[in-house]
Order: sequence, then structure tokens, then C-alpha cells
Amino acid sequence: MSNYHIKHLEEYFQVYRKSVRNPESYWEEIAEEHFMWHKRWDNVLSYDFDKPEFKWFEGAKLNITENCIDRHLRTRGDKTAILFEPNNPDEEALHISYNELHERVAKMANVLKSQGIKKGDRVCIYLPMIPELAVSVLACARIGAIHSVVFAGFSSSALATRINDSDCKLVITSDGSFRGSKTIDLKGIVDEGLKKCESVETVLVVNRINAEIDMKEGRDQWLQPLLEKAETTCAPEIMDAEDPLFILYTSGSTGTPKGMVHTTAGYMVYSAFTFKNVFQYREDDVYWCTADIGWITGHSYIVYGPLANGATTVMFEGVPSYPDYGRFWEIVEKHKVTQFYTAPTAIRALAKENLEHVEKYDLTSLKVLGTVGEPINEEAWHWYDENIGKKKSPIVDTWWQTETGGIMISPIPYSTPAIPTFATLPLPGIQPALMDEEGNEIKGNQVDGRLCIKFPWPSMARTIWGNHQRYKETYFSAFKNMYFTGDGALRDSVGYYRITGRVDDVVIVSGHNLGTAPIEDAINEHPAVAESAIVGYPHEVKGNALYGYVILKETGESRNQDNLRKEINQLISDRIGPIAKLDKIQFTNGLPKTRSGKIMRRILRKIASNDTSNLGDTSTLLNPEIVQEVMDNVIK
Ligand code: PRX
Repeated sequence: MSNYHIKHLEEYFQVYRKSVRNPESYWEEIAEEHFMWHKRWDNVLSYDFDKPEFKWFEGAKLNITENCIDRHLRTRGDKTAILFEPNNPDEEALHISYNELHERVAKMANVLKSQGIKKGDRVCIYLPMIPELAVSVLACARIGAIHSVVFAGFSSSALATRINDSDCKLVITSDGSFRGSKTIDLKGIVDEGLKKCESVETVLVVNRINAEIDMKEGRDQWLQPLLEKAETTCAPEIMDAEDPLFILYTSGSTGTPKGMVHTTAGYMVYSAFTFKNVFQYREDDVYWCTADIGWITGHSYIVYGPLANGATTVMFEGVPSYPDYGRFWEIVEKHKVTQFYTAPTAIRALAKENLEHVEKYDLTSLKVLGTVGEPINEEAWHWYDENIGKKKSPIVDTWWQTETGGIMISPIPYSTPAIPTFATLPLPGIQPALMDEEGNEIKGNQVDGRLCIKFPWPSMARTIWGNHQRYKETYFSAFKNMYFTGDGALRDSVGYYRITGRVDDVVIVSGHNLGTAPIEDAINEHPAVAESAIVGYPHEVKGNALYGYVILKETGESRNQDNLRKEINQLISDRIGPIAKLDKIQFTNGLPKTRSGKIMRRILRKIASNDTSNLGDTSTLLNPEIVQEVMDNVIK
């Protein structure tokens, strides 16, 4: 019997040791007992860190949607698979059973086929959190098309960049979306973006808000009439274990977003296994992850992981503040949610509001609370523990990344004793290492360093779409025979890990990964801007906020600074999306630079964070005098 479900700490240690001693046989047992295959693999794992190349379950044949849907129909056909809670609490929640999901996915898959989509084609999904989003994802997987979900908060240019990078042939979107008391013109954003995309032949449009929109002749089609005509069954495309399942873009510290490619079998096994254990999922639970399916958290822990376990997964269309700050807790009470998974930024925002919003609701159904996306501070952790979990629900602080596909370091609830701000111990099969800057592994406890993973795991991203060299350089070049995460971490006296934050130029704002370079590129497009540097600084609710240092050209110097700030933020909003706007913009005559001309971001970070006690030796800078000037004009 494989250890698919770990139930106590001793068992964890036993399983962990086994998983590290012989990873191949460990994952093989799990794959064999808990999933449905058309053909067994020839080889569990082959890998080469230099190429780099990683193959799991090579030779196996499967379809992930059969594992997520078809195999449950006999025993769980009428069970709710997706529980949709609309933005407006007066609109009825929708319980989509496994039988209904099966039919909806088949119809959508048939529509895609009728539009000429076949195995290997890329389909861009730009939808709000409505059932059609999960259905579209699964429909692509059904026919072997590669989905690329773009978060519907991204701007038209960000959407266009992503569509072009992977040459998507078809886009699925909606006429608009509800967001609290507002509506958003998604179709308008798509139309604008597609002006720059040549690969897109078809746009399928869901009617969500009954908006009057333009439909482009020969390109745009309403989805509903096509679905009505579609057949209700669709044979699954039989995929190879290593066939790509999806592309998901993540920001890098430089240049364009990276299209992380995840493949089929390993991703399925790992997302399902970690869902089961990290949330201690049991048959009648109602699980809710508040993330958007536009992020990896939604892919792995709203769609694939829960459905592969036959779970009921809640999809929420709205925001935590609408119609008031009690909405999350109202939903927990209404649907008797048992596992609740959210981001520290949401916890911090809700903790600022009156406790009445929490106390009104019965939260006794909750058994496990989760957090993800950024370090959680102690205060937020305790607020969550006391007011939401009533000190009875363990908190799982789950560390992972778009690139890792699934949770890597996390407590197992009811097994691993939690310590606030610690992601604690690696999950089975995960071998973390802390490295120093010279490339040596730092052994022992009570140490800190750069967090790497020294052995492959099934759900690791296999490449960056169209740019394998960048994949190699970003993740496998800093340290030999290791995957480098970009994060710093410490290991305490008992071996628990605490993630200390990014060590590269990525800033995590409200749980969203933002590269500073693309933001600087956007700002530098402004005709009055000569140069800019963006850094993160600590923020009470967002975790980090963005601080911009901007050098103006002569022509810009006479301009009204407040107007310039607005224009710069508008430009960022247009190029990337409102999530990347700057909280503070300081106009400056210069930036501290090394003699080779590199901006000293470390100094800028300290100044923006009001932490100037230890700036280090600035005398070797090209322009040491600028440091004082920047400090004098800092925006508090
Ligand atoms: O810095 C880490 C932070 O989020 C980064 C990954 O971001 P993304 O690819 O968008 O995926 C987010 C959801 C999995 C990591 O490199 N991060 C994620 N989880 C945690 C975290 N930092 C601290 N604690 C966490 N639990």
C-alpha cells in the first residue's frame, strides 16, 4: 500500500525517509494505485540537470480529465464537483455535479474541435471566475489542446504579449465580468489586445453580464448557441505522460513574462497527492480556495488537485469586500466549508476591519486553514488562528511557485506542529537545500541561504515556452545540479524552513509576482522619463508595495509632478495591469550606481523602506553624493 494519505507525524517522517531513499519507487506506487492509465510507463524518472531535462512516467498514456471526472462518475456522479458562488449574494449558488461537469466539458471540447482546435494547439482563456473558466481548462485538456489562462486583471497589452508568445489560435472570454459593485469590460480589453495578435482566428464569448459588445465578423462567436448544438460526449485524447498540459505565465526579474510549461502525468500525480495531504481532504468535505484560476494556485488547487480526488471545490466569482467585509465568512457558513485556502494579503486586509464581520457567522465547519503566495507575518497568522480557526483549525503555510506546480514545503495538518511564519517541513519527495553565494550547500540547522531543490519532483515545470535557454539560465545555472527557487530561506534548530523572501528583482505585491524590469520598461516609455528604478518596500496590507525612483528628461522637469505620477501609473496599468501600479514615486536627479553603471538596488530598497542605518560602504559608488540627495527627498 502506498502512503497516499499521511495521518500523523511519525508516519510523515517514515514516508519522507522512504521518498528520499528511493524517489522512483515511492512515486511509482502512488501513481499506480491512485490514478487511471491507458498504458503504464516504461520508466518512472529520467533526468539531466545540465540539459536540463526531466521526464516522469515516460511512455505512460493517459488523459487527466478522465482522472478528474470520468472515473468518479460511477461512485460520485451526483456529488457536487464545482460549487459556484456568484459575485452577487442574491444570485443563487450553482452546484455542478460530476455528471454535469462531464457533460459541460464534453460540449465545450466539441465546440473547440468544431473550431478546428486539435492536440497541441494553444488556447488562451481570459475569463472571470465563472464555471466556464474551469470547464474551458478541462475541455482543452480533454482534447489535448494546451491551455494558457491569463488572469482577467491583466491589461490588453499584457494579454497580447502572452497570446503572441505562444501563438494562441483561439481565445475564450466573456462580454464582461462582475467585480463587487462594478462591471469590467473584458471583451473591450480583448478587442484592444487582439489588434496586435495575428495568430488568433476565433474568439468565443460567454455571456455573463448581458453587455452590448462589438462582435467582429468572422472572428467572434457567442459560446452559448454553439454549446447548445454540441454533442454531450467527447472521447478523451490519449496523451503521453510528457505532453504539455498547460502554459502559465509568471514574471521574471528581466524582460518578458516566462511561459512555464507543465506536462501531464507528473503534474497530475503531484497536485492530487499534495491536495489530499496538505488539506487532509476527506470524502464529504467542502474545500474552498479563494485564488483566481488565472494563477497557479487556482490551476492546482481549485481545478486539478481537488477534482482528481473527487472533491467538491468552491469557485467564488467576487471579492472579499462585497457586499461587505463579511463575505468570505458568510460563504463559509452558507456552504459549510471545511478547508479554506487564501493569501496573507487577504487576511491582513480583513483583519483591519471590524470583528463583527467575522463574529456574525458560524465558522465551526472549518478544519484546515491555508495560506499561500507570500510570507505571512506573525500578527496576521495569529488573527487567522484566533478569529477564523478559533485555535482549533491548524494553519498550513504552504510554500511553492508557478514553476513547482504544487506545494513543496508545508505542514501536514494534525501532524506537523505549526510555528507562525514557518512553512515547516518539505513534503515527501522534496529535497530542499540552502546554498551560500559561492555555491556550497550549507548543512546543519540554524542557518540561512538561497533555497534550492536538489532532486526532481513530478510537477516541476519542464521548460519555458519557446525559450529553453532562459529556463536553464534562470533555474539551473546559479547552482550546479540544483533547481534555484529565487527565494531565500532559513532552517531553524529543528529543521523547519522559513521563507524570507525573494533574492532577485521580483517583488511580491498582494501575493502577485511582479518583475521590476517590465515595470521600468513601461515607465521608460513615458516621453518625459529618462531612467527609472523600481524596488519593493514593506506595506501593512499588501506585504510589499512598489516604490519608483524616476529621473526626468529636461523636458519633464517643468511638468506638474502629480500629473506625471498619474500618467506614469496609467502607463503601467495599460502595459501590465493595475496590480503593478506604484504606491510612491520619487523624482530624482540621479540613482546610485556602481562603477560599471549598475543601479545599486540594495541601497534604494533600504531608503524606500526607511531603513538607512546600515547602507554599507557607499564610497566606491560612481556617484556617492547622490545617496544623501535621494535620502533627503524620500517619500514617507
Ligand atoms: O517568493 C515565494 C512566494 O511566492 C513566490 C512564487 O510566486 P508564484 O509563482 O506567483 O506562486 C504563488 C503561489 C504558489 C515564491 O517564490 N511564496 C509563495 N508561497 C509562499 C511564499 N513566500 C513565503 N511563504 C509562502 N508560503
